[in-house]
Amino acid sequence: MTEKTNSSGLGDPFVPSPMRDNWYQSSSFYGSSFALITSVDETGLTNIGPYQLSFPFEVIKRRSWMVISRPTSNTVANVRRTRKCALNFVEYDAAKIQTILEFGYPGQPTAEKMAYNTFKLVDSPTPGRGLPDHPQIIADAFQVFECTLDVERINENPILRDSASAHLLLNIDNILLKQSWLGQVDGRGDRMPRIALTYGFRGASSFWFGETQPAYKLPIPDKGPKHEVVHYEANRIDPEVIFSLEASKQLTGIPRAFLRQVLEGIVRQAKARGVAQVDAAFVTELNRERR
Ligand SMILES: Cc1cc2nc3c(=O)[nH]c(=O)nc-3n(C[C@H](O)[C@H](O)[C@H](O)COP(=O)(O)O)c2cc1C
Repeated sequence: MTEKTNSSGLGDPFVPSPMRDNWYQSSSFYGSSFALITSVDETGLTNIGPYQLSFPFEVIKRRSWMVISRPTSNTVANVRRTRKCALNFVEYDAAKIQTILEFGYPGQPTAEKMAYNTFKLVDSPTPGRGLPDHPQIIADAFQVFECTLDVERINENPILRDSASAHLLLNIDNILLKQSWLGQVDGRGDRMPRIALTYGFRGASSFWFGETQPAYKLPIPDKGPKHEVVHYEANRIDPEVIFSLEASKQLTGIPRAFLRQVLEGIVRQAKARGVAQVDAAFVTELNRERR
């Protein structure tokens, strides 16, 4: 039999891993991107802290983000005081990994961290988001989320409020993309940022990072017309025009390649006629007019 390159072959049995605190990196493997969080310290300096436990939380209607931190970090103190922070995402750059690693060493005051910082901090381009209430952002980042801490909803939720870790529920106020990435965000282009990855802190002496391979895209499998696909596509075009399930069922005959174009046309017609709910009758009416 040929040797497999990834060691967990079919003959390799599953065995229990002992549960420990910080289980995601002490009892298991977890690789992901991470955010460099900028926040303002009590002297007005922008602080940078790396956070792997940092992911989309609410994605429909509300845009929010969750960060899980040790409760004594600079970031937690700053965000609780000012309510503001920015999540900066950088592409993989071997020369910058050392700085990120050092930023992750607990207990350093902001001035000490900024003395060896190799990232360029700049003012936010968003009106009203300047110092001293809002942090600077990292010019090297390919995207930045500018956020506000949702103190009210944290206090209403016992899991977020009483956990031994700090759970920062952040509402995303703005998403800033570098201009050259804006045209790629809908996946029509051929480029994807080479997002830096981490595999966390291991065995008391090492922190693991990963270099990403260039991303590639595959066409979505064509499994025939499904009204769920139409419904999903239709309802993410314009939040002011909602398609009913019945309307989506009527539109399953459209070839995949033209689906988006046709749905955008229906949304345009709906808006021109002041229609907020596209139902089956509206689709029938448009079909009748086209004949
Ligand atoms: C890549 C990377 C990811 C990290 N992710 C987390 C995390 O998700 N949660 C956490 O509490 N600490 C995490 N750390 C450790 C923090 O960065 C560390 O506590 C640091 O002191 C935080 O900086 P601050 O005190 O300036 O906020 C991470 C460190 C690195 C290098």
